[in-house]
Amino acid sequence: MSTASSIATAPGALPLLGHLAPLLRDPLAFLRSLSAHGDLVRVCLGPFQAVMVCDPALTHQVLLDDRTFDRGGVLYERLREVGGNGIAACPHSMHRRQRRLLQPAFHPARLARYAQTMTDQIVAMTGSWRDGQVLDVLAEMQTLTGRVTTMTLFSDTLAPPVLRQAIDDITTFAHGTFQRMLMPPPLDRLPIPSNRRFHEARDRLHRTVRTILADHRESGTDQGDLLSALLAARDPDPTETRPALSDDEIADQLVTFFSAGTETTANTVAWALHLLAQHPDIEDRLRAEVDAVLQGSPAAHEHLPRLKLTSRCVTETLRLWPPGWLLTRTIAVDTHLGGHLLPAGTTLLYSAYLIQHRPDLYPDPERFDPDRWDSPRRPAPPRDTFIAFGDGARRCIGDQFSMIESTLALATIASRWQLRPVPGHPVRPDTRNIVLQPRGLRMRAIARTPQHAS
Ligand code: HEM
Repeated sequence: MSTASSIATAPGALPLLGHLAPLLRDPLAFLRSLSAHGDLVRVCLGPFQAVMVCDPALTHQVLLDDRTFDRGGVLYERLREVGGNGIAACPHSMHRRQRRLLQPAFHPARLARYAQTMTDQIVAMTGSWRDGQVLDVLAEMQTLTGRVTTMTLFSDTLAPPVLRQAIDDITTFAHGTFQRMLMPPPLDRLPIPSNRRFHEARDRLHRTVRTILADHRESGTDQGDLLSALLAARDPDPTETRPALSDDEIADQLVTFFSAGTETTANTVAWALHLLAQHPDIEDRLRAEVDAVLQGSPAAHEHLPRLKLTSRCVTETLRLWPPGWLLTRTIAVDTHLGGHLLPAGTTLLYSAYLIQHRPDLYPDPERFDPDRWDSPRRPAPPRDTFIAFGDGARRCIGDQFSMIESTLALATIASRWQLRPVPGHPVRPDTRNIVLQPRGLRMRAIARTPQHAS
């Protein structure tokens, strides 16, 4: 059995800087290069050392054992600065109780109700576009997903400027967190613009969710949503009548859900629209599907089982551009992984991007090919290698929520509009961000008349 020191270090590390240069220059190419050096590869994030898990079976082992491979490491330590010990960043010891409390908000019956809100908001968004208008596609999708998250989970509608500001604040965190992940904590206190922006955004978003919380409390009614469940939560001790969660804890959950639910899905739909515009053959087939299934009406929950190609396009987009592309864990107790002894405290990195771009698992991995997921017509990709939503007890709680929202959005947009790329606006992944955004995505909306094929 080898020790951690026998793990190969990725080539190109510089003294002090480690692998910061390739990580800042082209992190996706760097990730793709790593599996050639072993199943586990040592990576130096400036002053921090971490071990990248490049093998799908070992990644699976890490995801399923969330007690040993706990939420932590450089990313989650930084995310706690924004969402505290809310469900996404909290350690294993605090997780099960939170998950039990929050899971009912994602029950299938609830999702069917949320789908109606999603449909209404998608109709409102697509109805506000004008023929020939150039859209900032990501901003449109962020507004959509921000509205849907607040309306479904918090029974609230934020005034448009407040919602826009909240979304901009989340984008500021997503950039700031990536930067802070790579810099030593003492630098946080430097009075530089990026630190100031980060703190202002965090304080403003916490004030916004506090307002939502106060309004909700004042209304005094159980609205049957996630926020009502958080407010009504009581400790298992039957003699205890005080709320189980303090206002600070509830605010952390709201910030967590608002951030996790808004950016991720918005990016997925935006990337899907971009990919479809690059692949007219697939776009034509998608349009034929939505015209046949929707018959001119907006996409709704009951259409989902028949929107098969649309849903495969969403899955394939998540394979190519998984929003959470680089995530971390911390090892809670000395453990063995892939034949190496790893000491407690080691930071692990895992990447859906790396695994989902391995050519041995996904042949021709850079190709947008939704039919990979068309089983039984094509052999399905190996089980457990699609990890855009993570896996195990800490798998994304919003996986179905976001699949429904993305599929409905893509279907209604495709049935009513053709979105064409605007020349002179190259689209690139924004890799200085913890969420992979399609930077520069501008598209021209051309109205279409759906063909009501039977
Ligand atoms: C396409 C959209 C989405 C993607 C790709 C995505 C991805 C992920 C991933 C990869 C994780 C696990 C992170 C890890 O292993 O370290 C996660 C966790 C989580 N996601 Fe999502 N997510 C999406 C949408 C959503 C939505 C819509 C919500 C809420 C409405 C949400 C809420 C959460 C929460 C609360 C967790 C933490 C779960 C736990 O630790 O128990 N996500 N998500």
